[in-house]
Amino acid sequence: MMWVLVLTCLIACTGKVVSTVCQIEMSPPRVVVKFGDSLSANCSSSASQIEGIGWESTYGGTGLVHGVSTLSLTIQSVKDWVIDPECYVNLNNGTQCVQPLPVTVYKMPDAVVVQPFIEVIEGKTYQLPCEIYSVAPARNLSVYWRKGNKIFHKETFDDPSPSPVTKLSLLNLTAHRDDNGVHFSCEPQLDLRPEEPDSLRMTPMAIKVTVLYPPTFRNPAHEMLEVPAGKEIALDCTATGNPMPTYRWTLPQSAEEMNKNQIVNESILKPSFQLPGTYSCTASNIHGNSTKYFSVSQAAGDRTTFAAIVGVFASLGVLLLIAGVFFVTKDGTFSCNKGSYIRGQPTSSGPV
Ligand SMILES: *[C@@H]1O[C@H](CO)[C@@H](O)[C@H](O)[C@H]1NC(C)=O
Ligand SMILES: *[C@@H]1O[C@H](CO)[C@@H](O)[C@H](O)[C@H]1NC(C)=O
Ligand SMILES: *[C@@H]1O[C@H](CO)[C@@H](O)[C@H](O)[C@H]1NC(C)=O
Repeated sequence: MMWVLVLTCLIACTGKVVSTVCQIEMSPPRVVVKFGDSLSANCSSSASQIEGIGWESTYGGTGLVHGVSTLSLTIQSVKDWVIDPECYVNLNNGTQCVQPLPVTVYKMPDAVVVQPFIEVIEGKTYQLPCEIYSVAPARNLSVYWRKGNKIFHKETFDDPSPSPVTKLSLLNLTAHRDDNGVHFSCEPQLDLRPEEPDSLRMTPMAIKVTVLYPPTFRNPAHEMLEVPAGKEIALDCTATGNPMPTYRWTLPQSAEEMNKNQIVNESILKPSFQLPGTYSCTASNIHGNSTKYFSVSQAAGDRTTFAAIVGVFASLGVLLLIAGVFFVTKDGTFSCNKGSYIRGQPTSSGPV
C-alpha cells in the first residue's frame, strides 16, 4: 500500500514540478472549432531561462522558435477530425516540457430525418425514429424529444468517434388517445460547453401522431332518465373514437313503431313519443364497438302521457276482451285468461 502511494505521489509530484518549471500557459486552454474554420492559440512560458518554444501539429506546426516567450499556432482551416497540437518549451538547462492543447472538431448534422406522420393504435408501443446524418463528435450529441413544448425524453450517445457518424434515436411511445393529434419533435443539439456556452441546435423535426381507438362514451354507459310529461328528451350517446364512430339505436318495440321517422343513425336521439322502456345505442368504428343503455321512465306524479298510452292499450285490451266474450263465450279457459290480463292492468299503471 505504502509503495503505491509513494509511487503515485512521486509521478504526480514530478509531473507538477516539470510543469511548474516551464510555467506554460495556453490561451485558450481548450479549443472547440467547427470543421473547416480557423484555429488559433497561444503558448506562453514565464520561465526565466527559455531556449525556445515550438508547436507540433498535423497542420500549421512550427519549428522551435528561439528567444520568444509566446508563440502562436494558427491553422487557417481545420480539415481533420483529430489534430493534437502540442506546445513544447525548451529551457537552457536542457529541460523540455510538453503540453497538449485539447481540440474538439465539430460538425453540425447534414440532415435530421423523421417520418412526419404516424398512425398508431391505442395501447400498442411504437418506436418513432429520428435519424441524424453525419454529425461530429457523437459523444457531444444530445437528442431532445419534445411532446408539444415539454421535453419528453433525452438521448445521448457513447460513441467515442471523433469523425462524423449517423445516429438513430428512437422514441418509445405507448399510444394513448390523449396523444391523438399531438406533435412529437426530434431536436438534435451539440453540447460543447463550456467552450460554446450555447448548445448548437438543429431545427426540430415534428412527427404528428394519429391515435386510433375504439368508441368510448363520455357519460356513463347506463343512464336512468325520468321524463316529465310534455317535455322533450334527448338521449345522448355521443362517444369519442378514432375514426369517428357511427351510431345505431334500438328502441322498445312500442316506441320503435311510433318514432319510426326519428330514428336516424346519429349520436343524439330525440324521440317524439317518449315511451318508457330501455333504449340502447351502439357506437362502432373499425377498432370496436360499445353499447349504452337508457332506462326511460315516467316522472313520478306526472304520468299522464304514460297513462294515456297505457289507457289506449287498456281500452284495446278491453275491446279485445269484449270481442272475446262475444265470440268465444263458450270457451271458459280463454275467458278466464282474458280476465286475469285485465286484472293485471291496474298494477302496471298503478297510481293513475
Ligand atoms: C495570441 O497573442 C497575440 C499577441 O500577444 C494576441 O494578439 C492574440 O489575441 C492571442 N490569441 C489568442 C487566441 O489568445
Ligand atoms: C425502447 O424500447 C426498446 C425495446 O423495447 C428498449 O430496448 C429501449 O431501452 C427503450 N428505450 C427507452 C428510452 O426506454
Ligand atoms: C463533449 O463530450 C465530452 C464527453 O462527454 C465532454 O467531456 C466534453 O466536455 C464535451 N465538450 C467538448 C467541448 O468536448
